Amino acid sequence: MVRGQANPHVSRLRKHVGDVQITTGDLLDQGSLISAVERVQPDEVYNLGAISYVPMSWQQAELTAEVTGMGVLRMLEAIRVVSGVGQSRTPGAGQIRFYQASSSEMFGMVRETPQNEKTPFHPRSPYGVAKTYGHYITQNYRESYGMFAVSGILFNHESPRRGAEFVTRKVSLGVARIKLGLATELRMGNLEARRDWGYAGDYARAMRLMVNQERPEDYVIGTGRTQSVRELVELAFGSVGLNWQDHVVLDSRYTRPAEVDLLCADPKKAREQLGWEPEVGFEELVAMMVESDLRLLSRSNRPEDEPFSPDHW
Ligand code: GDD
Repeated sequence: MVRGQANPHVSRLRKHVGDVQITTGDLLDQGSLISAVERVQPDEVYNLGAISYVPMSWQQAELTAEVTGMGVLRMLEAIRVVSGVGQSRTPGAGQIRFYQASSSEMFGMVRETPQNEKTPFHPRSPYGVAKTYGHYITQNYRESYGMFAVSGILFNHESPRRGAEFVTRKVSLGVARIKLGLATELRMGNLEARRDWGYAGDYARAMRLMVNQERPEDYVIGTGRTQSVRELVELAFGSVGLNWQDHVVLDSRYTRPAEVDLLCADPKKAREQLGWEPEVGFEELVAMMVESDLRLLSRSNRPEDEPFSPDHW
C-alpha cells in the first residue's frame, strides 16, 4: 500500500518487486484503509508503516503519534469492519491475519538484559511511545475480538536497502565515500549506544513464521548479541583497511534528547516456537553493506538516498 500523490517511492518499489500489485491508502485516513482491505480481500496484513526515524519523532511528535500509533488502530478497525468481526461474532477460519511491527525501542531504558516478551516497557522517544500504543492496541484487539493479530518485537534490522539516515547505512555509505576519495570525514553522534543488529532478510522470515502459527502470539526477534556504535564504526572502517579514528568526528547534532543506551534480545521463544535462527551475523552484515555501497558509489558517485541532517535541538 502506498500513500500520497505521485509518491516517489513507487518507482523504487517497482524496481525491486515489479510483479507486486500496489494499492492506495493512508494510515491517517480510516476510510481509505477500509477501502483498501475491501478491495484487496487479503489473507494477511503486515503493518510496517510508520514514521520510523527516532530523532524525527521529537520534531514531529504529534504526527508520529498519529501515523505510528493511531495508524495501527485504524488498520485494525479496517480489518474488523471489513471482516465483520464483533463481540457477538467470533471470527473463524479464513479470517484476515494481522502483523504489527512492534519495536525494541519500546524497551527504551531497559529494566533487564537481555529483553524478552515479558520485559516491561519504558520508551524513551515519542516514536517509542507511539509503538507501545500500537503494541497494546494489537494485543487488545486480539483479546477483545479474537482477531488473529500478532506483534513482532523486532530489534534493529539492517541491509544495503536501509535508509541513509539510520546509523548502519550512514556508516557504510560514509566508509565507501571516504575509501573512494569522495569525502574525508564522517560526523557521528553517540558512539557508546549499544544495539542488537541483525539482517533484515532474516527478520522478514520471522514475520511470516509468526503470522502462520496456529495461535496468535507476540515474539521478540533479535540475535542475542549487542555491539556499540563505536564497534560498528571500527569494524566498517577496518573492513576496507581504514582507521576510524582518522575520519570520525563527533557532532552534537546527532545526539538525542533521551537515548536508548543498550538493547539486546532474548530470542529464546522465537527459536523454540518458530524454529527461527538468524543466518547472517553482524560482521557479515557490515561487510555486505560496505561492499554494496562501494559498488553503488563506484557506479554513479551517488547513493539512492542522500544523508539526512537533522536540525539542531
Ligand atoms: N541515526 C544515527 N546517526 N544514529 C546515530 C548516530 C548518527 O549519526 N550516531 C550515533 N547514533 C546512535 C543513535 O543515537 C542510536 O543509539 C543508534 O546509533 C542507532 O540509531 P538508528 O540507526 O537511527 O536506529 P534506532 O535504534 O534509533 O532505531 C531503529 O531501530 C528500531 C528497532 O530497535 C529504527 O529502525 C526504528 O524504527 C526501530 O524501531
